[in-house]
Amino acid sequence: MAKLVIEGGNRLRGKVNISGFKNAALAILPATILTGDNCIIENLPMIQDVFVYRDILLKLGADVSISDSGLMNVDTSKIEKCFIPNGLTKKLRASYYLLGAGLGRFKDVTISYPGGCDIGLRPIDQHIKGLEALGGTFEVKDDVIRVSAKKLKGNKIYLDVVSVGATINIMMAAVFAEGKTVIENAAKEPHVVDTANFLNAMGASIRGAGTDVIRITGVEKLHGGEYSVIPDQIEAGTYMIAAAVTKGDLIINNIIPKHLEPVTAKLKEMGMNIEEYGDSLRVHYEKELVPVNIKTLPYPGFPTDLQQPMTVLLAMTKGDSIVIESIFENRFKYIDELVKMGARIKVENRAAAIKGVEKLNATEVKATDLRAGAAMVVACLAAEGVSTVNDIYHIDRGYEFIENKFMNLGAKIRRVEDEDQQI
Ligand code: UD1
Repeated sequence: MAKLVIEGGNRLRGKVNISGFKNAALAILPATILTGDNCIIENLPMIQDVFVYRDILLKLGADVSISDSGLMNVDTSKIEKCFIPNGLTKKLRASYYLLGAGLGRFKDVTISYPGGCDIGLRPIDQHIKGLEALGGTFEVKDDVIRVSAKKLKGNKIYLDVVSVGATINIMMAAVFAEGKTVIENAAKEPHVVDTANFLNAMGASIRGAGTDVIRITGVEKLHGGEYSVIPDQIEAGTYMIAAAVTKGDLIINNIIPKHLEPVTAKLKEMGMNIEEYGDSLRVHYEKELVPVNIKTLPYPGFPTDLQQPMTVLLAMTKGDSIVIESIFENRFKYIDELVKMGARIKVENRAAAIKGVEKLNATEVKATDLRAGAAMVVACLAAEGVSTVNDIYHIDRGYEFIENKFMNLGAKIRRVEDEDQQI
């Protein structure tokens, strides 16, 4: 199995281009089903999760072609039904969007239960509550979910928890629900807005995405068109934190600085120097950093997807800090790997108490999930000596060309496919 071999201890310097946002891409691809037409989606990241969605669309009967530069031509006009209980949807979390998109277009969907990172229970009760309120009836048997409706009718839906997935799923089904749908306590994440922008560009009527009340007026039909996915603020945040961990100096290109505010604010509070430009920023280390406390929250709070790399940075920052994970109950599994590297961290329930150490030691670690994997890479870039990150298939699900991008910034990092090769 592939692994990354990293010789750490080098300051990262240079420019990095950020790819399209995984989480937006994984909502927009199923949303093309609603158009029943030809769509050209640009700026898709070349990551495993996107390839799995391509396979799902092909399996459903769509015509799909994808170029190396991240442009997908997807024609969903020939799809006749949304029936895919064969386990393919278990390969990623975002397959739950087939429920909303398929219900909207075909009024009947069957899929295997969605998979994704093992970071907690990840229930879908809010998705079910929302789609039922629009007229859907659910049947869950073994590992297969079916939702069907005679017709969809707009309704007022209050989400009990702020859920990105439920917000987008309900928004998708409501595009074709008769009358008005109002989603209250909606998620405000950039990919909620990006998906709404895509659907509106194809003829939907969605107002308020990006606030906690979204209003959708049902329409009869959507059409195809072209759309470009927003940049990945989680990938950008990972490189910003890598700059801090390695005492480096990076220009992060192709970003929307506003989406990075929660990370920028915390890194500045720690003492990093950050200059923002139109669609890029410079992040550079000048003086010894100070510890901060972090609590993950829905957007615009600090993102749970950057909790792990941020914990690596705090683990190497002199002084005490606390990280509270308030979104997912099981997102500290990677801490054991960090402790192996010499970090001093104690976890109790959803809080990690960190005593910063001067340096981490190079060793063999594993990616326990996608974002934890990125955090391990960041930790190994800082640890002097040669480290290995195993189980990098998790990382490949969500980071485009990770070793090439870091190599271009001066890191000594290499993908090794078998036991014999060395750095
Ligand atoms: C999405 C992102 C993921 C990110 C997360 C939070 C995708 C594919 N994944 O995941 O990268 O970490 O948002 O920003 O976009 N919940 C319920 N019931 C539900 C739905 C959610 O209780 O029906 C809870 C979850 O367990 C969690 C919280 O709500 O505690 C937020 O989850 P949600 O925003 O839905 O996350 P995902 O859509 O799974």
